[in-house]
Amino acid sequence: MSRKVLLLVFVATCFCIAGISIAADKGPADMVLQAEKDKAKKPKPAVFPHAKHQEAAECGACHHGAKDGKQVPYEEGQEIGKCEDCHYKGAEMPKGLDSYKGAAHKNCKDCHKKVAEEKPELAEKFAKCMPCHPKT
Ligand code: HEC
Ligand code: HEC
Ligand code: HEC
Ligand code: HEC
Repeated sequence: MSRKVLLLVFVATCFCIAGISIAADKGPADMVLQAEKDKAKKPKPAVFPHAKHQEAAECGACHHGAKDGKQVPYEEGQEIGKCEDCHYKGAEMPKGLDSYKGAAHKNCKDCHKKVAEEKPELAEKFAKCMPCHPKT
């Protein structure tokens, strides 16, 4: 192969690897969620196995965008920010959605409630503040 061809192959491979790594930005596999903008007096971090949820649900079950103050449905490849980028005290949001806690509770708890209704064997695991705020 000539040098030119080798260079082309090299450049193409680089683009390819970069493309794959962009497509595969699925975020961390496990997270501990904690409000940072609106720090609570008594922080109550939530454990969140992200990868496990990606197996069980579509990205759009939790992620979305915003335009002119309205929610925009998730689109494959969109930029994904932190919930608190938009859901914080002082944001122009309906009451209850203007905090990380409010947005997260609505998103997380609504689905867990549905899941527990469909699978009664999970009722105990999903009782009260579990499994998100395990007692330490
Ligand atoms: C399905 C998961 C889930 C359940 C169940 C749940 N929470 Fe949360 N909670 C979260 C998430 C996620 C946050 C936002 C991250 C954070 O700031 O802790 C949060 C935030 C909070 C906060 C704000 C704390 C802080 O540091 O900002 C309080 C207080 C809280 N939850 C109390 C409760 C109580 C009390 C219960 C049970 C009655 C409960 N939560 C049940 C997921 C859950
Ligand atoms: C069950 C809910 C849920 C599902 C499903 C989900 N995510 Fe997430 N994801 C979250 C939460 C919550 C965070 C933490 C956001 C924060 O820090 O405020 C997060 C964080 C991320 C981040 C890091 C964002 C940052 O800037 O820190 C990326 C990237 C991401 N998710 C991509 C994805 C992709 C791609 C999918 C689908 C394959 C997906 N997520 C599915 C809830 C979910
Ligand atoms: C780019 C800004 C933005 C980000 C980031 C964002 N949201 Fe939202 N979200 C909005 C807007 C705008 C609305 C619509 C508020 C209204 O009804 O006026 C909304 C509505 C919601 C609602 C109520 C409607 C529904 O879908 O049930 C929930 C729950 C919610 N967001 C949770 C989350 C969670 C959890 C995250 C992080 C994984 C997140 N949001 C990230 C902007 C955002
Ligand atoms: C779209 C539905 C959905 C949403 C939204 C959702 N969950 Fe879950 N969650 C599930 C399912 C399904 C399971 C697995 C239940 C099982 O089979 O054990 C689960 C399990 C869990 C577990 C236990 C995992 C384990 O290892 O046993 C934790 C902790 C948890 N979720 C936290 C959260 C938090 C925090 C949020 C919000 C940021 C959230 N979930 C949002 C559906 C959801």
